[in-house]
Amino acid sequence: MSEEIAEYAAGDAPRDGIAEDDNPIPLWFTASFWLTVVFAAVYVPYYMFSGWSQTAQYEAEVQLAEARAAEVRASLPTANPYRGDTVAIAEGAEVWKTICVACHKPDGSGLVGPSLIDPYWKYGDSDEALYASVAEGRPLGMPPWGPQLGSEKIWKVLAYMETLPRSSEPGMGAPDYVAPGTAAGSTPGTTGTQPGG
Ligand code: HEC
Repeated sequence: MSEEIAEYAAGDAPRDGIAEDDNPIPLWFTASFWLTVVFAAVYVPYYMFSGWSQTAQYEAEVQLAEARAAEVRASLPTANPYRGDTVAIAEGAEVWKTICVACHKPDGSGLVGPSLIDPYWKYGDSDEALYASVAEGRPLGMPPWGPQLGSEKIWKVLAYMETLPRSSEPGMGAPDYVAPGTAAGSTPGTTGTQPGG
C-alpha cells in the first residue's frame, strides 16, 4: 500500500480540495450535554419516587374544586327565597304563562303533565324536590328548565305555583301519573292514559 493510499484510507488527506478538520467539541456543547446527564440523574428518580406527578397535581386541583363546589352548593337556598314576595310572584306568573301552562294547564290542574294543585306529589313537594323537578326535569315527559330559566326564575315560578287555588281532590295523574303511551297503571282510581279524576 502506497503512502498516499494509506492517507486516503485514514481519511486525513484532502479530497477534491476539501480537507477534514478534527477540532475539539466546543466547551458549551460538552457542558450542556453533561448538564442534561446530571439533570436526568436527579429528575428521573425524583419523578419516579417522590410521588410528584401531573396526575397527583390534577387530583389535588379536582379535590380543591370539589370542596369549593360543595361550599357553593351548601350556600344555595334549599327553601324558596321568594315565597310570599308579590313582585317575584308576578314575575313567576309570566314564566308560568309562557312555559308551564302548555302541559299543566293555567289553573295547574294538569293536561299532559300531572296536576300541581292536588294533594298528590310523585316526586315530593318540599322546596328542594319541587326545585329539582323543574330544574332537572323528570323522566316521564317533564323537560329540564334549569338551563333556560336559571335558579331565580325557577324559585319565582314555584312561588307563583303555590298561590294557585288548591284542590283537595286527586287531580290529573293522581295517585300515580301514567304518561301517555306507557302501560296503564294498575292502581285503583287510575284509568290508562288519563288516570285519576
Ligand atoms: C312539555 C310538557 C311540560 C311542560 C312545559 C312543563 N311540565 Fe312539569 N311535568 C310534565 C310531565 C309530563 C310531568 C310528569 C313527569 C313524571 O311523572 O316523570 C311533570 C311534572 C312536574 C312536576 C312534578 C310533579 C310531581 O307530582 O312530583 C312539577 C313540580 C312540575 N312538572 C312543574 C312544572 C313547572 C313549574 C313548569 C313550568 C316551568 C312545567 N312543569 C312545565 C310536563 C311538563
